[in-house]
Amino acid sequence: MNASLPVDSARLAGELEELAQFSEAAPPAVTRVLFSEADLAARAWLRARYEEAGLVVRVDPVGNVFARWEGTDPSLAPVATGSHIDAIPNAGRFDGTVGVLGALEAVRALRAAGFQPRRPIEIIQFTAEEPTRFGLGCLGSRLLAGTLAAEQAALLRDPEGRGLEDLRAAAGCTGDLAAVRLPAGACAGFVELHIEQGPILEREGLAIGAVEKIAAPSSARARLIGEGGHAGAVLMPQRHDAGLAAAEIALAVERAARGGGSADAVGTVGVFRVAPGAINSVPHTAWIEIDQRDTNPATLAQARGEVHRAAEEICARRGVQLEWEVINADEPASSAPELVDTVREAARALGLREMPMVSRAYHDTLFMARVCPVTMIFIPCRNGWSHRPDEFAAPSAVAAGVATLAETLRRLAG
Ligand code: GLV
Ligand code: MN
Ligand code: MN
Repeated sequence: MNASLPVDSARLAGELEELAQFSEAAPPAVTRVLFSEADLAARAWLRARYEEAGLVVRVDPVGNVFARWEGTDPSLAPVATGSHIDAIPNAGRFDGTVGVLGALEAVRALRAAGFQPRRPIEIIQFTAEEPTRFGLGCLGSRLLAGTLAAEQAALLRDPEGRGLEDLRAAAGCTGDLAAVRLPAGACAGFVELHIEQGPILEREGLAIGAVEKIAAPSSARARLIGEGGHAGAVLMPQRHDAGLAAAEIALAVERAARGGGSADAVGTVGVFRVAPGAINSVPHTAWIEIDQRDTNPATLAQARGEVHRAAEEICARRGVQLEWEVINADEPASSAPELVDTVREAARALGLREMPMVSRAYHDTLFMARVCPVTMIFIPCRNGWSHRPDEFAAPSAVAAGVATLAETLRRLAG
């Protein structure tokens, strides 16, 4: 690796480990839900790291954190980088955190190498990339991009009925949510470092992926209201089992993803609850949450329509009432070709093997693409595993990503 970029891989590995301790789950799992005690403690710990590195910290009304390294020409728009630190239940320690702590290490490496940026460099730590608390992913970046209106965001409630307005106030995030939106020209570019969360780089033996496109995500939730009763006494012809209606819908989600003719189409029912939840009681109500994605917006729209129609048919046939709510239906994003080239050239200059690729997971970059030119830097992770406790990226792989990010920032801010 380029000796002029002194990435301290051991320090970064230590900090990733330290950040993982802020968790509601026992190690090695990490659970860090937006504005939970663990999240607030992690935020405070990170703020101290930014300030230690000489960065000026600002927190916006929804809790997005901006840590800024001033350039020699502060009139220029900053080059931004960053990611998220929230973690879904029983997740690993690398998703998002590599892009936050890695950005900090990139800044420290650039400083240590004597680099002085002309443009400011800003690390953005986005609020709630994960949908755990409010059912909607990329809350912070949606507001930054103006994709989610402040009035809609203010209505968000978590499963316990706690609203975003109360939770952010309790976390010390004040001010009007409408002020989160970034004005036009606020950033000159945005580059997010992230683990791939898929197996391709590892399989190909490559160090770096330069992301050209991010798949379109969409999600919906359904409440199914049937009729409960005694599991022994209610005979099968009399049943209106909400759980079975939900199960049939889950299979329709799989069918739509497999049968739509798009290799990138995926469909998941990752939330499935029934009430009353007793072995000897017919479920009277079921709740499911459906995640559908594709790189092709046309086949995604078709799959979404197919699943909704199937749900209506299944519920009508079973005598179950259906309540359907679309949570989000987002467009795919494309990277700026010149930023993809910059990442690829930066990697090659460091002697790292790279390839262009598609992100099938969503990221805050999806929404930053509406604000400024974007791309992402992917690094390999073991077996492509992510959203599970054994998620792992080797310190050397993380360091290669950080070096590529630092070199990219040097070229963009220099
Ligand atoms: C982000 O975590 C995603 O679900 O793609
Ligand atoms: Mn994630
Ligand atoms: Mn992530």
